[in-house]
Amino acid sequence: MPLVNTKDMFKKAYAGGYAIGAFNVNNMELIQGIVGAAIEENAPLILQVSSGARKYANPIYLRKLVEAAVEQSGLPIALHLDHGDTYELCKSAIEDGFTSVMIDASHHSFEENIKITREVVRLAHDKGVDVEAELGRLAGIEDDVNVSAADASYTNPAQVEEFVSKTGVDSLAIAIGTSHGAFKFKGEAKLRFDILDEVSKRLPGFPIVLHGASSVLPEYVKIINDNGGSMAGAKGVPEDMLRRAASMAVCKINIDSDLRMACTAAIRKHFNENPAHFDPRQYLGPARELIKQCVKHKLVNVLGCNGKA
Ligand code: G3H
Ligand code: 13P
Ligand code: ZN
Repeated sequence: MPLVNTKDMFKKAYAGGYAIGAFNVNNMELIQGIVGAAIEENAPLILQVSSGARKYANPIYLRKLVEAAVEQSGLPIALHLDHGDTYELCKSAIEDGFTSVMIDASHHSFEENIKITREVVRLAHDKGVDVEAELGRLAGIEDDVNVSAADASYTNPAQVEEFVSKTGVDSLAIAIGTSHGAFKFKGEAKLRFDILDEVSKRLPGFPIVLHGASSVLPEYVKIINDNGGSMAGAKGVPEDMLRRAASMAVCKINIDSDLRMACTAAIRKHFNENPAHFDPRQYLGPARELIKQCVKHKLVNVLGCNGKA
């Protein structure tokens, strides 16, 4: 099976009350860990690449690694550009064979966001590529969304129908209190399910995307801290909240930080226990394995997309 786009995945996920995991990839071990988990759980997958990942790994290497994953797994896998911030970047990803792109023009005005998104949609749809856009802005990683983030950074549900109809976008990322990184909440975690509810009423059947959805698993924080790292105060989105979102209109849940932490935890622990090792396979192997265990846990216990490939 070749790379797929996200349409069919999202249609089934919406109807089935589950979400597809969109995992960020930068290198071979991440791709193998994620895909290994999806094979064992027979799950559809979105592998997503940021512009930073493209710079780090070289777009050709990443595309070839993802092609290898598709060939080996036989699973429905979409290759998605994460946070494309310009028309040119989206165009370059489309030319590279991505089957889905995100145009993130959420830092522009509402009108400008519509204009840029519409241009990307025109280009992408011409090539059978899906487009995700963002309305509202996620809190920054330093912000305490419970206290200091202004309501203005949440998605305004009154704007979503106009945005979707004027742009023709295929899915929409909304801001309901999640944020990127491993330090999401200073106090109690709180998501604005009222906004998600209102958005889904206004856009019946339309796939919603949740960014910044790592849970920052305490077991990884502990391994990192016990082995010379320092992640005191790290806090993510509770998994029961993500399950609730997945049972609603959220069809795509973005996870990066949890995989970074799994990778780091395994490597720190490995070196603490084996200070003389210097063969990269000795520490990258355990990292790949913990990434795989992390993704299996997400597929089964958070996203509910196991068995849905
Ligand atoms: O939301 C961003 C993703 O976590 C990717 O992060 O831009 O550091 O690759 P990155
Ligand atoms: P996390 O930092 O919560 O993993 O979010 C990743 C993300 O939204 C990628 O676009
Ligand atoms: Zn994101």
